[in-house]
Parts: sequence; C-alpha cells; structure tokens
Amino acid sequence: MYKIAVLPGDGIGPEVINEGLKVIHKTAEKVGFDYETIFYDFGGERYLEKGGDPLPDSALTEFKEMDAIYLGAVGHPDVKPGVLEHGILLKMRFSLDLYINLRPVKLYPGVWTPIKDKGPEDIDFIVVRENTEDLYVGMGGFFKKGTPDEVAIQQSVNTRKGVERCIRFAYELAMKRKRKKLTLCDKANVLTYAHDLWRRVFNEVGNEYPDVEKDFAFVDATTMWMVKNPEWFDVIVTCNMFGDIITDLGAMIQGGMGVAASGNINPNSVSMFEPIHGSAPKYKGTNTANPIAAICAGGMMLDHLGEKKAAELIDNAVSKALASGKIKDLSAGKMGMTTSEVGDLIASLI
Ligand code: NAD
Ligand code: IPM
Ligand code: MN
Repeated sequence: MYKIAVLPGDGIGPEVINEGLKVIHKTAEKVGFDYETIFYDFGGERYLEKGGDPLPDSALTEFKEMDAIYLGAVGHPDVKPGVLEHGILLKMRFSLDLYINLRPVKLYPGVWTPIKDKGPEDIDFIVVRENTEDLYVGMGGFFKKGTPDEVAIQQSVNTRKGVERCIRFAYELAMKRKRKKLTLCDKANVLTYAHDLWRRVFNEVGNEYPDVEKDFAFVDATTMWMVKNPEWFDVIVTCNMFGDIITDLGAMIQGGMGVAASGNINPNSVSMFEPIHGSAPKYKGTNTANPIAAICAGGMMLDHLGEKKAAELIDNAVSKALASGKIKDLSAGKMGMTTSEVGDLIASLI
C-alpha cells in the first residue's frame, strides 16, 4: 500500500492533478497495486485565509513517512512573488533534500515541435538538474537598500558533496540509457570557481564510468544546440539555475509547458513529482489547461516507486493519445478538448 501525499496547490494545479489521479487510479486497477492518497491544501488560498507558515514543518515530518509526493503547482496572483515558491516548493526541495531534479525532454510521435525537420528520433534527452544549491540557496543580502548606493548580493553555493552526488547520479542514469552519453552544461569560461569545481568533479567521477561518452557545452551554446541539433544530447547534467532555464526551452521543443514533467528526487528518501509548469493563473478554473505534464509526472512517480509496468502503461497511453490526432494543439484553450476530456481519453487508453 503506497502512501502518496497530494498537494494540488494553486491555479490550474488542482485541475491537472485531478486528471493525473484519474489515470493513476485506472492504472492501479489494471496492474493491481494499492495506494492511499492524503490531500494537503497548502497554497495561496490557504495562506491568504490563515496566514502563518505556507508549509509548516509538521507537514514535512508527515511527508517523510510517505512513499511519494504529487504536486500540482504553487503561485497565486494575490500573494507576493516568492512567498509560496520559497515557502512551499523550495522548502520541500531543500528540507527533504530532493537533490536531483529530473526533467525528460521527449518529443512524442504526432506532436508539433517548433524545430523544423526534427522529430521524435532527434528530441529524446533528459536533464539532471542539481536541485539544492547554487543561486537557489537564498544566501546574500542588501546593503544600503533603497538608497542610490544600494548593493544587492545573491550568492551561488556549490559544494563538493552536492556537485558530486548530482554528477554521479547523472553518470548512473547515462549508463542505463542506450546511448550512454553525458554532457556537462556549465559556464566554466566565466564562473571560474564554481564551474571549475563542476568540471573537476565531472572528470574525476567520469574516470569510474569509462563506457559513458563525455561532452561539455557552455550554457549559452547549450540553448543553441538544443534548437539546432537536439539529437546530440542524451543526458545533460547542470546546476540549479541553468537547469531551470534550459528546461523551459526543453519543454517548448517537446510540445510545450503542457507536456513537460519532472521528478524531484532524493534517492534515499521520499521524492516529489510535479509538472514543470506553474499555476498559470489566467487559466484557473477554465478546464482548458493541458493535464499531460501532470499525468506524465504521475507516471514518473510510479516508475520511481518500482511500478515499472504501470509507468509503461501511462507512457504508452499518453503516446497513443498524442498520436491519435484528437488533441488539436497542446496549448491551454486550444486543445479542442477540455482538461478532463484529455484525462478521460488517456485513462481510456490504459
Ligand atoms: P506558468 O508555467 O504557470 O505559465 C506560463 C504559461 O505556460 C501559461 O500562460 C500557459 O500559456 C503555459 N502553460 C503552463 N501550464 C500549462 C498547461 N498545463 N497547459 C497548457 N499551457 C500551459 O509560468 P508563470 O506564468 O511564469 O508562473 C505563474 C505562477 O506559477 C508564478 O507564481 C510562478 O512563480 C509559479 N510557478 C510555479 C511552479 C511550480 O509550482 N512548480 C513552476 C513555475 C512557476
Ligand atoms: C520550476 C520553477 C521553480 C524553480 C520556481 C517556481 C521556484 O520555475 O520548478 O522550474 O525556479 O525551480
Ligand atoms: Mn522553472
């Protein structure tokens, strides 16, 4: 019996999570595993109503007893930017030490990509984003704030331990893939301390993986190659900030924010799964957002739990739904179907 914490969150979060749960339910029936969902209402509405800590420590203690966490999105137009993102999402990533953010960039057959002449055989890689360090640690501060002499400092923290465990995870993942190629995406030509560490660790750990083909790409060039020659990539490993940025680009080349899923992973403890998109407030309650990213995140969650057959069923059902031509466009409001109809379609294909 798996215990899954469900945080639908804000905006379109509840709508897309609903469809993800619908598909998980159907899959569980088919494969025959049991699970229990425990719902939490953390998000903008609750914060506006009750105030206080957007995600109390007691909830984190409960999450540690669960098998997985399934999150919609956080971010509310009436709450100051950063309060919920830091208070809920980043707090979870940091406190639960979810040090890997795994983000597949996979173009399914039949899905439109803005890149001319590229197809599913060209766009199939995965980004391993470091998830607990870098500019995200919240270190820094203001000096003479609000004056003409104001200084703002935001520090990027890169530890040997943090970099090494991320790079090692990426090598292990590369070993499991057919192509076994790992690209380090960095900015070692400018960040001569932080990314010197990344390069040294990449090479040192790489000695233990002679079967993995190693490559380097500066982050600016990475964005160029992702558009020009996406087929060069198999596994990309990168720091937190760059991983955030390049995976929105990755989402667009795989069909859009509506289909890009992610896993926030602690290999030794509970992990969290979510679409990479946010709460898209303007589509809230319209039943027009694409639930596929959330459904795929559900698939990643089951895969992580060891339910390989279930994950495969979800992947195949998503693939069939996308190839069927029934979903006209993957953008919100243009699908020719509602959020729940897309969920029904995928559930029917399980
Ligand atoms: P967003 O991802 O919420 O939306 C940007 C655009 O992407 C939308 O306007 C829409 O066109 C498209 N989009 C997003 N989800 C979609 C879906 N399921 N189907 C179809 N199209 C979709 O990003 P934003 O507007 O920059 O941020 C909105 C709020 O969400 C902010 O508060 C932000 O901080 C937060 N956010 C949260 C997360 C998270 O919880 N993991 C991630 C990113 C942003
Ligand atoms: C993401 C989001 C978050 C990030 C924000 C909402 C804190 O953009 O999951 O990609 O920057 O990591
Ligand atoms: Mn992002």
